[in-house]
Amino acid sequence: MKKDAQASWGGRFKEPPAKLMLKFGESVSFDSKLARFDAFASKAHAKMLARSGIIKESEAKKICDGLDGIISEVESGKFKWDTALEDVHMNIEQALTKRVKCASKLHAARSRNDQVATDMRLFFKFACSELSGKLERAMKSLVELAERNSDVVMPGYTHMQRAQPVSAAHWILAWVEMLSRDMERFGFAYQGANVCPIGSGAIAGTTLPTDRIYEAKLLGFTDEGGACVTQNSMDAVSDRDPFLEFAFACAACGTHLSRIAEDAIIWNTSEFGFVKLPDAFTTGSSLMPQKKNPDAFELLRGKSARLIGNMSSLFSLVKGLPLTYDRDLQEDKPPVFDSFEQLSICLDVLAEMAEGMEFDKKRCLEAASDPLLLATDLADYFVVLGVPFREAHHMVGKLVAISEAKKVPINKLSDSDVLKICPKADKGWRGVFDLKRAFEMREKIGMPGRKTVADKIASWKKILG
Ligand code: ARG
Repeated sequence: MKKDAQASWGGRFKEPPAKLMLKFGESVSFDSKLARFDAFASKAHAKMLARSGIIKESEAKKICDGLDGIISEVESGKFKWDTALEDVHMNIEQALTKRVKCASKLHAARSRNDQVATDMRLFFKFACSELSGKLERAMKSLVELAERNSDVVMPGYTHMQRAQPVSAAHWILAWVEMLSRDMERFGFAYQGANVCPIGSGAIAGTTLPTDRIYEAKLLGFTDEGGACVTQNSMDAVSDRDPFLEFAFACAACGTHLSRIAEDAIIWNTSEFGFVKLPDAFTTGSSLMPQKKNPDAFELLRGKSARLIGNMSSLFSLVKGLPLTYDRDLQEDKPPVFDSFEQLSICLDVLAEMAEGMEFDKKRCLEAASDPLLLATDLADYFVVLGVPFREAHHMVGKLVAISEAKKVPINKLSDSDVLKICPKADKGWRGVFDLKRAFEMREKIGMPGRKTVADKIASWKKILG
């Protein structure tokens, strides 16, 4: 019997696989990243088999020790991966069987289909926790940036046109809100992954007397102490929702990072000049000696394309697949590994960038001191005097036109100009054009009033520790 290349499934074959097929079909070049999850899952499987009387306790012990040995070799880089053995599962199993004879009993009551699904869910739980930690660090760094700049007043924009004055802190806290939703999304992705597929076998479970609940508990697939196990063996081996949810969470977060980066890139232009970026995260030009480019932010913006691409690859991969496992699904791993690695470094970069970002307070204030930014406040003032808002809006629009025609700033128009347009106006109208007042009038939930923002900073600091 010829068994050379594939001892684990070679039984029914007369010929070994072609060299090209081995090269084409291998996944160990990327799924070796799952080694520790795979070994962890195999240890639990061995314990479950022993408890169910399928193997001896002493055999389970030898298998677990053997797996520990393999993992320390993997971690020290000594383990020899062999692409001819296809994937991480077979590499580990074969190495183990060479060392521990009874390990040939380990694959009872499981298939690589439920094994890979289990490994990946363990990976997602790990990855979601890691990214949540990194998100937390980035948010903390942004909250500190907000706190350092709570007295920086700047214009907020709609349609990239100056709209109304805000504080740098209020703007930065908007970013923090965005990232906090990403954090929630990683929480959902974690919950989605926290259901154990092992025991589903290749498609229809097993005839062996296994204990899925016990194995799920060993693997930490629990919620408030109770085991979470998948409820349909066919769904369990073909379901890739955890991949889609994880990739979506990464893409959404990447999209937020991209928008944050874009804000900072605009602020950093000579035209705006609102911020200075740290030297350590900018680069020069090989040609133009004066240049200091915001590369780190540009890369944050660019990486988001990759994260969206990874998500879209996964949806395309899964959408036409018949139940249950199809080998196409081997292609599900590179996109999620890539999203995890790229988003991890993006969040680290954002955290460090925020530490070194400096606002030009004077320049921001100059830009925010355009009285037109308080045109809406004047309309609100007229409303308080009893003018319906639509009319008030129209009146202020007229005053803006007059100020433009006369080339006089709106707050320097004469009282009679204003009275002509708004007969209800009183002398107090000019007092509206005061940034201090504008902020004082905005001390309500979610608004940029100084105290409101300070309270928000304090509450974020408490949440983030
Ligand atoms: N390397 C495979 C993958 O990632 C493992 C599952 C293989 N199952 C199979 N029936 N060939 O999808």
